[in-house]
Amino acid sequence: MRHVYLVTLFVVVLTVSILGFRGTKFTSAPMDVFPEWAFPGMKHQPKPYSQGTSAFFADGRADRVPVAGTVQRGMLRENDHMNHGKSADGSFARGFPSDVTVDFKLLERGQDRYTIYCSPCHGNVGDGNGITKKYGINTMYPYADKLVPADRWAVVAYVRALQRAQTGSTADVPGAHKSELGLK
Ligand code: HEC
Repeated sequence: MRHVYLVTLFVVVLTVSILGFRGTKFTSAPMDVFPEWAFPGMKHQPKPYSQGTSAFFADGRADRVPVAGTVQRGMLRENDHMNHGKSADGSFARGFPSDVTVDFKLLERGQDRYTIYCSPCHGNVGDGNGITKKYGINTMYPYADKLVPADRWAVVAYVRALQRAQTGSTADVPGAHKSELGLK
């Protein structure tokens, strides 16, 4: 027990002398745990980087365009209404696509996605009072990679429900529940 301070001091000095202070810069190369000569191909794998060059292809580019007439797996987007919100003639489609069933499950899914992806800026009820308002950085970015087409429609349904919820009147309350709520 008597030596506890000395031992602590010793350990601290030892640790610092081996590891150095936080943020210390070194000029020598870091210890190589997997040297290239012993583990060839670990660090320097022959791979193309995006937007990089390639000596293999005639055009010198590493990025390839999809082979004509093929579609990336899972990326077949045949239904214009479902995938782009457009009609066959290119105009904006009206209503929900036929493969989307607007029910409570869809609204719940929409609420879930909306709360995750939209409410930070647009607010939980869509009034624009999200948390980001406090910080000022609220530029809306693309959501194509975050919401698959079916989820987009779920969010649409939920946003419609939010709108409806805010413009509702006592006339919307079913008769059976009016007395329950003390309405005429
Ligand atoms: C990072 C903050 C942010 C997030 C997250 C965000 N938005 Fe936005 N959104 C904005 C801002 C800011 C505008 C206004 C852009 C403008 O006027 O240029 C906007 C505009 C919109 C508009 C157009 C409104 C109009 O009147 O034209 C819609 C629709 C919309 N957002 C829906 C969504 C949906 C759906 C989500 C979630 C999937 C979402 N936003 C997520 C910031 C955000």
